[in-house]
Amino acid sequence: MTHPVGADLTQAVLARLDSCSDPRFKAVMSALVAHLHAFMREVDLTPEEWMAGIEFLTATGRACDAQRQEFILLSDTLGASMLAVALQQARAIGSGRGATEATEATVEGPYYLDCAPDRPLGADIGEGLAGEPTFYAGRVTDTEGNPIAGALLDVWSGDGEGVYDMAAGGRRGMPARGRFRTDDQGRYWFWSIRPGHYPVPMDGPVGRMLERMGSHPNRPGHIHMKVSATGFVPVTTHLFVADSLYLDSDAVFGVRDSLIVDFDAHGPGEAPDGRLLDRPYWSAHYDFRLAPLAG
Ligand code: BEZ
Ligand code: FE
Repeated sequence: MTHPVGADLTQAVLARLDSCSDPRFKAVMSALVAHLHAFMREVDLTPEEWMAGIEFLTATGRACDAQRQEFILLSDTLGASMLAVALQQARAIGSGRGATEATEATVEGPYYLDCAPDRPLGADIGEGLAGEPTFYAGRVTDTEGNPIAGALLDVWSGDGEGVYDMAAGGRRGMPARGRFRTDDQGRYWFWSIRPGHYPVPMDGPVGRMLERMGSHPNRPGHIHMKVSATGFVPVTTHLFVADSLYLDSDAVFGVRDSLIVDFDAHGPGEAPDGRLLDRPYWSAHYDFRLAPLAG
């Protein structure tokens, strides 16, 4: 009997999957083992470093509870969440009709609540929040520009200082959250605030990792949307404020050029929906495009 080391050890571990009856699990595990061994060889990992890695992952697990998911934050800050999102969108849309025209997806993040209230078009979901009023408007269309009536926009964001209701101990009334349905011309419009940049949680193992990397924890100002309609591939995305800090260095790699939106400044007066404002406000226009479901 031989007891392999070096390259043979990798082959010996891979051989343990010979009888695996699940082809996808076998493919994923084989690649994981091969890449893990290659990584350890590439950096000539010491036992102390390997143990430090195990202790880091243990601390990451211990930092998780019902409110906090430190492993997802690790995945976000290593770009793995964004890569998974991009792979999923490519898989869902494929190279078929509309593949390149559909609105790009980005990370969901930890602050989505699947229970935002239905709001009428034109409602102000930023009322009473810190931040400057902003009129959001546009259309939801298919990838050929045909309007989609009754499409659902599920919207959420932090306030103008980047603080989410969940992070602020759960402000009452679901501020900066709402579900809107497009009208018969595929149009949507609502009011909220202009979202500010903010840091991801830094008081755990992932924060210490970012510090040691010499990186920063900030995300540029953005507003989240899930856009869906019957017969179309739904998209989870954000709109990013064009002149926000950190657009070029988002801590979770979520920025896509196609999602950066100019926020136009307006003086006090009548807004496009007829609302009279006694203070300056912003407007942001964006058309979402959904790809048809395959088949
Ligand atoms: C966010 O967009 O809210 C977010 C995304 C990833 C990690 C932390 C926050
Ligand atoms: Fe966010």
